[in-house]
Amino acid sequence: MTQRTFVILKPDAVRRGLVGEVLSRFEAKGLSIVAMEQRTIDGAMADQHYAEHVERDFYPPLRTFITSGPLVALVLEGDEAIDVVRAINGATDGRKAAPGTVRGDLSLSNRENLVHASDSAESAARELALWFPGL
Ligand code: CMP
Repeated sequence: MTQRTFVILKPDAVRRGLVGEVLSRFEAKGLSIVAMEQRTIDGAMADQHYAEHVERDFYPPLRTFITSGPLVALVLEGDEAIDVVRAINGATDGRKAAPGTVRGDLSLSNRENLVHASDSAESAARELALWFPGL
């Protein structure tokens, strides 16, 4: 089934000049870019995006990181796009993610892990409405 999923190329991806590298993996897979925008978010937007994590111990440094500079927000579309993008990204912790995945190849961190992607149809709908209202 064709799906849309929401993806962030996080501030570490922009700082490290890896936007093209990561985007090209999604494009090479056959996913379509439906929307894409570079922006810098504030703490309030971070709190909304990461609503399910705001009480976690790891949240304060994550909030600092995700607001630390420009990120690229995008919407990708394709067959089973939600699971396909998560497989391309790999496990959350870059130190444990499998080689061949974005995080496995390019990240050594559990926080600065280059990408975010919606983890379910419900979170995709919520995140798309938050980041790209009217799409
Ligand atoms: P993301 O897919 O954006 O969803 C939540 C984010 O929190 C995750 O990627 C990581 O950037 C970060 N994260 C999750 N778990 C931890 C952790 N244990 N320590 C630090 N950061 C974490």
